[in-house]
Amino acid sequence: MLNVAVDPAFRGRGTARRLLAEVLHEAREKSIEKCCLEVRPGNAPALRLYRGAGFGQAGLRRRYYSDGEDALVMTLELS
Ligand SMILES: CC(C)(COP(=O)(O)OP(=O)(O)OC[C@H]1O[C@@H](n2cnc3c(N)ncnc32)[C@H](O)[C@@H]1OP(=O)(O)O)[C@@H](O)C(=O)NCCC(=O)NCCS
Repeated sequence: MLNVAVDPAFRGRGTARRLLAEVLHEAREKSIEKCCLEVRPGNAPALRLYRGAGFGQAGLRRRYYSDGEDALVMTLELS
């Protein structure tokens, strides 16, 4: 999975939570041991989504985005 996004008219209904749970379920079935992602520190909905799925902050990528903003690196151990 490269990006997760939900139509603004349908946000806040648990859609992304279910999508992410399905992706993580498939990853476990494929014996993937670790997931890693980048997220903007100011993206509260995405941070809540990822923390709720068990991701924890693992680091920072400085000036990761094209506008110069840093990215938080979050990881989840699946095994
Ligand atoms: C991030 C995004 C995918 C969440 O989609 P969603 O379907 O609205 O998310 P859900 O309804 O499944 O909610 C997931 C969690 O985020 C929280 N959340 C949703 N909207 C929120 C908001 N505006 N502010 C704070 N938290 C919010 C929910 O409360 C939920 O947490 P909880 O289970 O602890 O209550 C959506 O906001 C989006 O498409 N954003 C633009 C694209 C983007 O930023 N993608 C992530 C890139 S890293």
